[in-house]
Amino acid sequence: MSEATPKRYHPAHVVIHWLTALLVLMMLMVGKFAMPGVPSTDPQKPMMLQSHTYIGGAIAILLVIRLIMLFSFKRPAADTNKDNRFLDIVAKATHGLLYLLMLGMALSGFGLFQQVNLPAVFSGAQPYPQDFFEYLPRLGHGLTSTLLLLLVLLHFGAALYHQFIKKDNLLARMWFGKN
Ligand code: HEM
Repeated sequence: MSEATPKRYHPAHVVIHWLTALLVLMMLMVGKFAMPGVPSTDPQKPMMLQSHTYIGGAIAILLVIRLIMLFSFKRPAADTNKDNRFLDIVAKATHGLLYLLMLGMALSGFGLFQQVNLPAVFSGAQPYPQDFFEYLPRLGHGLTSTLLLLLVLLHFGAALYHQFIKKDNLLARMWFGKN
């Protein structure tokens, strides 16, 4: 049995963290910069969106598993900043918001899936929509993706700050090793 407060996250948590990071980053880059450049008349477009849907669904499943693990597995104590409590609040809020925004992406994506009837678009039974913004969840999906991108950058910046300026090797908590 491990001690009461572990030094690092459970290996399953570590795997899901880095897998989610990779998939979300990929989805944000493709969704923001690659997909808009492909016209809706391009025969590749439904296939691109189909992959986007599958990966989005996988992120949603990983998110649910992660939230369950967050409350059922022991995790390291919060890293507190004795001389700047404000940074503790920012860190806590960022982590909570990251979960919330990922959930928002999955829910708005699922809303689009239902409203547009994406399976019919993927099978060719229904034409690819000219403009998804006719559907309300598309607005939420776009706005949430921008907020998520900004927050991911903040999270990434904070990790670099810990690693190279504070040099406290906080990153090791989200990697494999002895507890
Ligand atoms: C959970 C992670 C997801 C991420 C990070 C993500 C990311 C994105 C991004 C960045 C965009 C472009 C937004 C913009 O700049 O306006 C987008 C568009 C879109 N996403 Fe997602 N998405 C996710 C999940 C989903 C899911 C689960 C579905 C469907 C079931 C979905 C369906 C769509 C659709 C239909 C569009 C619009 C495509 C267009 O306008 O041509 N997304 N997504």
